[in-house]
Formats: sequence, C-alpha cells, structure tokens
Amino acid sequence: MAKRGAIRACYQDAAVRRFPPTAAALRAKLGRAAVRSLDLNECPLPPSPAVVAAVAAAAQSANRYPDALCKDLAQALAAATGVETSQLVFTNGSDEMLTLVAMVALGPGDEAVMPAPSFPGYAHSTRLADGKPIAAALREDGANDPAGLLAAITPATRLLFCAPVNNPSGGMLEAAALTRLIEATPEDVLLVMDDAYGEFAQHAGGPDVLPLMARRRAPWAVLRTFSKTYGMAGLRVGYGIFSSEAVAQAVLQVKGTFNVNSLAQAAALAALADQAYKNRILDHNARERQRLASGAEAMGLVALPGVGNFISLRLPISGLVAAKALAEQGIIVRPWVEPGYENCLRITVGTADDTTAVLAALQGILAAQ
Ligand SMILES: Cc1ncc(COP(=O)(O)O)c(C=O)c1O
Repeated sequence: MAKRGAIRACYQDAAVRRFPPTAAALRAKLGRAAVRSLDLNECPLPPSPAVVAAVAAAAQSANRYPDALCKDLAQALAAATGVETSQLVFTNGSDEMLTLVAMVALGPGDEAVMPAPSFPGYAHSTRLADGKPIAAALREDGANDPAGLLAAITPATRLLFCAPVNNPSGGMLEAAALTRLIEATPEDVLLVMDDAYGEFAQHAGGPDVLPLMARRRAPWAVLRTFSKTYGMAGLRVGYGIFSSEAVAQAVLQVKGTFNVNSLAQAAALAALADQAYKNRILDHNARERQRLASGAEAMGLVALPGVGNFISLRLPISGLVAAKALAEQGIIVRPWVEPGYENCLRITVGTADDTTAVLAALQGILAAQ
C-alpha cells in the first residue's frame, strides 16, 4: 500500500484555490486609479460613525484576548430577537459558521442537500466535513425550490442548507413555502437557513425566517451576518441562532476559542445600537436596486426577480464577456458560470453614482455588440 504523505490527498491534489482579488490588486491589474467593487455584495457605504468610534476605543485593549463567547453581544441580540443567549454562537463572519454546522452535522459520506446555483460556501463546507453535496435546482423565479430540496433528501442526509434569499439569483421564498420546507424536513436533518439577506427581504415585505423556524420541533439554525446592512464585511462578525442550547453547545465544541476579535465585538455592539444607520442602508439599497432594475429593463435586459443588495441580469451576451468589458471600464461584477445561466451577471447595489455608471457602461457594451 502506498505510504500516505503528511497532507491528505484531497488537499494535496486540489486545484489552486482562487480568492477574490482586492480592490488594490484590481486597480493595479487594470491600470486604473479607482475601481467600482460591485462583485462581493458589500455595503457601498462605510459603517456608522458609532461603529468606527467603537473600533478605535476597543483598539486600546487589543493586548487582551477577546471574550470567547461574545457575552455582551449575545445579550444585546437576545434582547433584540427574543431568543435565549444560550441559543447564540458567534463566528468570524457567517462564512465560518457554514463550516461549523457542517462539522457538527456531517460525518464521512453523509449528505448535505443545498440549492444550486447558490452560495459556494454550502458545498465547500460540506466537502471540508467529508460530506457529499447534493444539489437541488432553483425554482423558475430563482428562489430555492422546497419541493426539489425535499426530494433530494435520502437516508444519508444530515444537513439541509436553504437560502431564503438565494445568492446569486436574489429570488426570495415566501412564508408558505418556507413553512412547508420547515415542516417536511426530517427530524434527523439539521435545517440551516442562511439568512444573510433576511433584513433586505423583510424590508421588501418578505417573511421573517426566525419565528417560522422557531415552530420546528427538530434541530435548526438561522445564520445571520453583520457584513451587509451594518457595512461591516471587513470586521467579520456572523452568528447562528440555534434551536436549543444543546445544538449551540455542539457548535461551540468546534469553533476556535477566540474566533471573533475584540474590535469586531465592540463594532457589532455599536452597530446594533444604531438601527437608524441600518434603516438608511436598507432604504438606499431599495432605491438603487430599483434604479438598476428599471434601467436594465429599459435596455431590454431581464432583471431576475429578487431582493438583496445585489441584482442579477440576464443579457443577450455571455456574462463572462460582459463582466470583462465592464472591468475594462473599472466596474467589477460577478458573472454566473453555472450551466443554463451563462448569460447572467450579478451586480452588487452600489452608490447612486455606481448605478449611473453601471447603466451607462452596460448600454455602451450592448450597443457595441
Ligand atoms: C448567501 C450568503 N451567505 C453567507 C455569506 C457570508 O457572509 P459573511 O461571511 O461576510 O458573514 C454571504 C456573503 O456574501 C452570502 O452571500
């Protein structure tokens, strides 16, 4: 038998993992003084001044390790959501939580059902836990398909990822469909709702996922983030609300001890105390998203139905070609690459100036075809 090396074959032989380029790298590559970063669904505005001040103040005690359990933050969130502090676990962005839930639910060969195309973190975290990703196609309107997700469950399924607002399509699940999925997911499956865009959904009149999940009599998790509506993607704070203390305790077993740094914890507390800032972001996003949608439709493009701080457009040309042409004008967006969606482009909602620039650039690119 061949001797096993220090590194597991699956990592040794893996293709080089690609990470998103920084804005600085893109400026250098494109030879431009500035680029419009509309590829990562970031908030286009800086965080609230209260958050910036809290980070500066917390930096004074950066010689100390942070609170491993984020207790102040847990109390503030418990008060805001009505859950117990024992149901909350904090992570270095909600991205990290995807890995933790996969670790506690999956063993080698177990299956995780997930929508596709969707956030790559679901399949990635499943593979890290030696599980098997099982994809379920989206509904025609770009939302997750509860019937398809349920049909993909087998006796080997232990985890189901659902994105009530799907990234990259933006399609939103209505309360009745969510309830059907929540009720029909078997008890031996951890049901994970990735609620990263939940505030945008509710702002657009969509359902609040948490009270619907709270009715489930089997393990569940609702994952949220401070990256989007609080403008804190660079600080990395996410959290999970779990069905019980027992599930939360299982997740605590696998998290890094000091996974959320003290500056980030202080920032999140300050962000929660400034809801006016979040509401401003939500209003701004709705306005600019609408401008993007109507501007694109006026050009004859199809704007996929959706909510979120991004919009997906169906073009008459390849998304890759369009993204490259936009990049040449300093506008960075995300082409879809999945079969059936090759003509789609996901654009993060930016500033009002970004919207104007995107629409003008798209018009020019289409006219040149
Ligand atoms: C659907 C979805 N889930 C999770 C995340 C991760 O967010 P973060 O790690 O910044 O909390 C993102 C980020 O874009 C996302 O789109």
